[in-house]
Amino acid sequence: MAANKLHRIAVMTSGGDAPGMNACVRAVVRTALFHDVQVYGVYRAYAGLAAGNIEPLGARNVGGIIQKGGTVLQTARLPEFSQPEIQQKSLENLRAWDIDALVVIGGDGSLRGAMALHQLGFPVVGVPASIDNDIWGTNMAIGVDTALNTILEAIDALRDTASSHQRAFLLETMGRHNGYLALMGGITGGAEVILIPEINTPLEEVAERVRQAYIRRKTHAIIVNAEGSGHSTTEIANYLNEQQTGFEVRVTILGHVQRGGRPSAFDRLLATRLGNAAVVQLLQGNSGIMVGLQGRSISSVPIEDVVTHDRKLNLDYYEMGRMLAL
Ligand code: ADP
Ligand code: F6P
Repeated sequence: MAANKLHRIAVMTSGGDAPGMNACVRAVVRTALFHDVQVYGVYRAYAGLAAGNIEPLGARNVGGIIQKGGTVLQTARLPEFSQPEIQQKSLENLRAWDIDALVVIGGDGSLRGAMALHQLGFPVVGVPASIDNDIWGTNMAIGVDTALNTILEAIDALRDTASSHQRAFLLETMGRHNGYLALMGGITGGAEVILIPEINTPLEEVAERVRQAYIRRKTHAIIVNAEGSGHSTTEIANYLNEQQTGFEVRVTILGHVQRGGRPSAFDRLLATRLGNAAVVQLLQGNSGIMVGLQGRSISSVPIEDVVTHDRKLNLDYYEMGRMLAL
C-alpha cells in the first residue's frame, strides 16, 4: 500500500474481551483523525464485519471510554470466519464503505482472522489483546496486567480469611491452554502450590506439598489452579479433603471477574501506545503485521510469524515460585 493512499480505516475488537481494548480503540480513532484519516467501527468483531455492521467513529464517540473495561465495539465469536465465502463477503462490506485498511484488536484467534484478510490482499494491522498473555511477538498483551491485579486482589483477600481459620484455599484462575495468569498470580500472591497446563502435577504431590506447609506451621495454604491444569478444582478439593493434610479446604472459582473491570495504568498506556502505533504503521504503508511490546519499545512483527509460533511460558518463574513457597 502506498504511504499516501490512506483515507479511511476501520477498527474492531474480537475474541475474548480484555481490559484496555477501549483505550486502544480511542487511540486508533484519534491518531487517525489527527492525520485526517476517517475511522469506522466494526461492531461485534468478524460477525459484524460479515454482516456489514459498520459505523463511522468520531473523536467524541470514543470520549469517556479510556477507563472502561470490556469493549464499546462489542465482540463476538464467529468460527465460520475461516470459510472463504464469509471472508469475501467481509471484504465486500469493507469495500462498500471505501475502507482502505483494518485494525484488529484481539487474541490469537482474532489474529488468524486478520491473517486471512491480509492473505486476500487487504491491509490489516493486528494489536494483541487477551488476558491469557498467550500471543507470540509481544511481551505483554492488552488486559493481562489488569487481570493479574484482579487475581492478586482475590488472593490477598483469601489469605486473610485462610490464615484466620488455618485453612487451605484453592483459587481457580482463567487460562484454558496457558498458565501465565496462574503462575504470575501465584508468585505475586505468595501461593504455596501453583498448577498450570504446562506442568503435570500429580494430586499426590499437591497433597504432600500442602501437608508439608502444615507441618512447617504455616497458617494457610494457597493453591492456584489454572482452569486448564488438567485437574478440575473440585477434584483437587475432594482429594485434599480425603488426604487430610491438616488444613480444611475451601474453593473459589474466580471466573469472568478476571476479564472485566477498569484497566490498570499499565494496560491503558500499553493499549494507547499500541493503538497509536497501529495507525502510524498504516500511515507509513505497512500492513500484515502485529504491533507489540518488545522490552520497553513498541515494534512490529509479521502476523504470519505470530500465528505460526506458540508463545512458551518461561518456566524459570515456576521454579522460583516453588523455591519461595518454603
Ligand atoms: P481470541 O482472539 O481471543 O483468541 P478466538 O480464538 O475465539 O478468540 O477467536 C476469535 C475469532 O477469530 C473467532 O471467533 C473467529 O471469528 C476468528 N478466527 C479464529 N481462528 C480463525 C482462523 N483460523 N481463521 C479465520 N478466523 C479465525
Ligand atoms: O479471554 C481468554 C479466556 O479468558 C480464557 O482464559 C478462557 O478459557 C476463555 O477466555 C473463556 O472465554 P469464554 O467464556 O468467553 O468462552
